[in-house]
Formats: sequence, structure tokens, C-alpha cells
Amino acid sequence: MSVRILHGDCRDVLKTLPDASVQCCVTSPPYWGGLRDYGHDGQLGMEREPAEYVGTMVDVFRDVRRVLLPTGTLWLNVGDVYAASGKGGGGNRGDRKAWETVAGRNGFRMPPPGFKMKDLTLVAFALADALRRDGWYLRSTIIWRKPSAVEPTRLDRPAVSHEYLFLLSVAERYYARPPAEVWWSHSVWDIRSDSDGNHPAAMPAELARRCLIVGCPEGGTALDPFHGYGTVGMVADRLQRSCIGIELNPTYADMASRRITGDAPLFAEVACSATAIGRERSASGSTPAPCSIAPTNRAGQWT
Ligand SMILES: C[S@@+](CC[C@H](N)C(=O)[O-])C[C@H]1O[C@@H](n2cnc3c(N)ncnc32)[C@H](O)[C@@H]1O
Repeated sequence: MSVRILHGDCRDVLKTLPDASVQCCVTSPPYWGGLRDYGHDGQLGMEREPAEYVGTMVDVFRDVRRVLLPTGTLWLNVGDVYAASGKGGGGNRGDRKAWETVAGRNGFRMPPPGFKMKDLTLVAFALADALRRDGWYLRSTIIWRKPSAVEPTRLDRPAVSHEYLFLLSVAERYYARPPAEVWWSHSVWDIRSDSDGNHPAAMPAELARRCLIVGCPEGGTALDPFHGYGTVGMVADRLQRSCIGIELNPTYADMASRRITGDAPLFAEVACSATAIGRERSASGSTPAPCSIAPTNRAGQWT
């Protein structure tokens, strides 16, 4: 089994992948609204309006659908966002200044046209519905319930303590292997964050595990076009699945490569493309470091 990390913009890199070549896609794209700054020009999520974000994501996932086998599934983790809450500002620790610059540039403290201050945009559902209208089969809305709320207590509404995981399929009938585990009989999944703080929005390994054991057979290949710190790749490797991960920020691509190798020092076969694939979208004012090839333990050559 191997994990191949492709450094570049997923809008370009996906076009280099062959049709019908992966079994499932497990991914968490940047959420709309500039909630996070992933430190690279070309990052998605900075669109001024939810509709623009949805349109871009539909294009990305249309390419994902082409790359998936006809029996493939998409496990899409995405959260909802308030219009102009002005309360965002994740990003890397200590990066708040950078985030404020991006947010200021894009005006996220003002509601986009058609929304009022403090409106919940329902952008996650707008995306799920747009994907359905684009041809995907929308099969399930899973609530990922977080035992601890992700924001401070509010005076005028409950604090948000959940995100969504949409299960979509390419066709009416698709590969799904129901596990003999209790959570499969519920559409509300309680999963704790296991973040080590190295990436601003890493997915818990358990969330990736659930999607992969149902959506990808042992020996099969999964895809994550927003690979980040590499949770999907790491868990796929643990479960004897291969993975193709695409990541725009070379620092994250490199971190993911080291993380996956470190997770299984004797077995992981990780290769990371050394230069950006497709058009280069460099960070403004700085030259991005290329993603280094991580040491591989077996013949993990980049091809
Ligand atoms: C929510 S994070 C994914 C985290 C990942 N699931 C993990 O566990 O580490 C979204 C990632 O998408 C990346 N990204 C943003 N725009 C991108 C693009 N156009 N192409 C590829 N990756 C992009 C960001 O750099 C960020 O690492």
C-alpha cells in the first residue's frame, strides 16, 4: 500500500489523474468564509459569496467524480458558517495577524449580498444540494457531534458543537461495506478531536477510519484532494488502503509526509511530489519551499 502526496492546486492536479481509478474520496475542504488561512494563494474558501464557493467546489468534485470508480463514494466533511460573524480566525497558532490580513482583504466581516449580519448561511447544505443537482446521489447527512463545543458559549444562540459529513455516491448502487460497529446504526457520530495543533483543521483519525472502512476495500485506493496534514493518508495506510492526497501548501504536504512515515516507520511507503503540479500559485511575497521527498522504507518512488 502506498500514500502519494501530490503538491499543487487540486483544480489542476485532479485533471492529471486517470478516470475511474479510485474507490472513494474522503475529504474536508476549506470551509467558506475565510475561517482559516492556509497560507497560500489559490486556497479555496476565500470566495466572497457562498454561491461562488459552492460553484468552485462543484467543479472540484465533478473532477473527483470522474476519477472515482462507478461504484465510488464521496465522504464530504464540511461545516456551516455564519455570515460576517467576525468571530473566525483560526489559522496556525500565532498566525492570527496573517488571518486578519486575509479577512480584511476579502471583507468577511460584512455579510455577503443576500445575507444579514449573523445569518447562518447554510453553505454546507447549499453545497450538498448543488452536488446532488450536478449528478451525485446524496445518500446521507451524518452529524459529527463534538463532545466539546468548538466555540465559546454565546448569549443569543447555542454554541456550535457539530459539523456535517455528507455521503454521496457516483451511482445509485455503490460499494459500501457495513461494519459490525455500533456507530453504523446511527447518523449522529460522537467523535473527539485528536488534534496535535500542527495543522489548523486536521480531521480526527476516527472520522477518516469510519469512512474508509465502509467506502474503500482493503487494497483499494482512496483520494483526498484537500489532504492537509494527511489524516486520510495516514489512516488509509493503517488500514491497508492506498491513498492519493493533494495539497496546495508545500509545508503541509511535507508535514503530512513525515507524519505518515512516522506513524508506521517500518511499513509506510510515502512519496511526495517535489514540485508543484500545474500552475504555481505562490504565497504572496514569499517563495514557497518545495515539498521534500520523505524517506521511504520500501521502494516508495515518486512516479
Ligand atoms: C480542512 S483542511 C484539510 C485537513 C485534512 N483533512 C487533515 O486531516 O489534515 C483543508 C486543506 O486544503 C488545503 N487547500 C486549500 N485550497 C486548496 C487547493 N486549491 N488545492 C489543494 N489543497 C487546498 C489547505 O491548505 C488545507 O490544508
